[in-house]
Amino acid sequence: MKTLILFSTRDGQTREIASYLASELKEQGVYADVVNLNRTEEIVWQDYDRVVIGASIRYGHFHPAVARFVKKHAVTLNALPSAFYSVNLVARKAEKRTPQTNSYTRKFLLSSPWQPTQCAVFAGALRYPRYRWLDRFMIRLIMKMTGGETDTSKEVVYTDWQQVASFARDIAQLTANARV
Ligand SMILES: Cc1cc2nc3c(=O)[nH]c(=O)nc-3n(C[C@H](O)[C@H](O)[C@H](O)COP(=O)(O)O)c2cc1C
Repeated sequence: MKTLILFSTRDGQTREIASYLASELKEQGVYADVVNLNRTEEIVWQDYDRVVIGASIRYGHFHPAVARFVKKHAVTLNALPSAFYSVNLVARKAEKRTPQTNSYTRKFLLSSPWQPTQCAVFAGALRYPRYRWLDRFMIRLIMKMTGGETDTSKEVVYTDWQQVASFARDIAQLTANARV
C-alpha cells in the first residue's frame, strides 16, 4: 500500500513541498505517489492506505478544482487516514501558520465535507521575476502593506523545510483509525 499525495499548484511551490514530503516519507519506509490534482483521471483508491492534499492560495482562494475534488471524493477521503496542507504567503508570519490562525485554512476546514486527520500550513515562495507584471504589481503592494519583501528582482522561499519534515513524520504515523 502507498500514500497518495495530490497537489494543486500555480507556480510550483506546492508541488515542491509534495515532493519533499514524499522523499521524507520514503526515508521512513512509506512510499508515495505524487500526483497533480488537476490531472487526475481515475484514481485507483485500493492502492492507497492514506491520502494527502496540498493546495496554494492565489488572491485569497484555493483553485476551484480543490473544492470540486473534495466534494466528489468526500466519502473516500473521510474513510482514509488523511492530511491537508495549505501554502500561502500570509503564513510567512509564524503566528499565521496554524490551521486555526491561517484564515484561508480555517475557512476551508469549516466548509469542507472532508475533515482531514492532520492539517498543516506552510509559508510559500515569493518569486517576483516569474510573475506577470500585474501579479508582480499586486503582490508587491500586498508585501508593502504587510511589511514584506518589495525588491522585485528577488525570489524568496519562506517554506520552513523542518516544518515540512515534521509533517511528514505525522503523516507516516497516521494509522487506520480513520472515520468510516
Ligand atoms: C498572483 C498571486 C496571488 C497571490 N495571492 C495570495 C494571497 O491572497 N494570500 C497569500 O497569503 N498568498 C498569496 N500568494 C502567494 C502564494 O500563495 C505563494 O506564492 C505560494 O508559494 C504559491 O504556491 P504555488 O507555487 O504552489 O502556486 C499569491 C501569489 C501570487 C503569484
